[in-house]
Amino acid sequence: MNNISKIDLELLKQKYQGESLDIALNKVNEGYPVQYLIGNVNFCGNIINVNENVLIPRYETEFLVQLVLKNISKDFNGNILDIGTGSGCISISIAKELTKANITGIDVSKKAIELAVENKNINKTNNVKFEIKDLFEINNLSGYEIIVSNPPYVSYNEEVGFETKYEPQNAIFADNNGLVFYEEIIKKVSKSKNIKHIFFEIGMTQAKDIMNFKKEYLPEYKMDVYKDLAGKDRYIHIYE
Ligand SMILES: C[S@@+](CC[C@H](N)C(=O)[O-])C[C@H]1O[C@@H](n2cnc3c(N)ncnc32)[C@H](O)[C@@H]1O
Repeated sequence: MNNISKIDLELLKQKYQGESLDIALNKVNEGYPVQYLIGNVNFCGNIINVNENVLIPRYETEFLVQLVLKNISKDFNGNILDIGTGSGCISISIAKELTKANITGIDVSKKAIELAVENKNINKTNNVKFEIKDLFEINNLSGYEIIVSNPPYVSYNEEVGFETKYEPQNAIFADNNGLVFYEEIIKKVSKSKNIKHIFFEIGMTQAKDIMNFKKEYLPEYKMDVYKDLAGKDRYIHIYE
C-alpha cells in the first residue's frame, strides 16, 4: 500500500465502498493524490473542497495565514488581497479570524474561482469575494492595504514530487527561476497607494532575490524572512 495515513484510509472508506474503493486505492497506489479522491482537506481548521483544478492546500501554508494573523490586529477593517487564491483556503481562513476585514481572492483560473466560491459558501464567510483576474493584467493594487500571496514559485528546471503532476501546472511553475510573481507584485505595490504589508510564501532559495526586488522597488520598506520547521527560509513579510 502506498503511503496513506489511517485517517485518509478511513475517509476513503466512508466515501467509496466495494469495487469503487478498490479503484480509489489503486489510484492512490499509482501516486494519485488521496486528497482529490476524498474531495476535501482541513486547512486552518476549515474544510476546503479540492479538485484537480486547484493546488491541494499544503500544511506549511497554514504558517502564512498565522503570520498574517500575528501581524494584523483583529480589529482591522480594511481590504486584503490574496493573489493566486486557488481553492480560496488562505482568504477564507483569514476572513474567519479578521471578521471586520474585506478579503478579495483573485485567480487566473475560472474553475479555481468556482471552487473558491463553493468553499466560501461551505464555510459561511461573508467577508470574502472571489474574482477571475490575471495578476499581469492588473494596472496597480490600490485599494488594498494588505497583500498576501502563495504564488506559483517553482522554477521550470526544478525537480518536484511525483504527486504534483496531477495538480494544475500553472499553480506550481513560474518563469524567471520561479521569481516572476514576486517581482510583479512588488513592482505593482510600488505603483500603488497605501499598501502597508505584503506576506509571501516563498521557495527556500528565493529570499535573497526577493530582497533585491524589495531594495529596487520598495527601498523604504522593511523585510523579515521566516523559516519553516525544517529551518528553511519559506515566508516573507514586507512592511512600511
Ligand atoms: C501555489 S497556487 C496557491 C493556491 C492557494 N493560494 C494555496 O495556497 O493553496 C498558485 C495559484 O496562482 C494561480 N495563478 C497562476 N497564474 C496566475 C496569474 N497570472 N494571475 C493570478 N493567479 C494566477 C494558480 O491558478 C494557482 O491557483
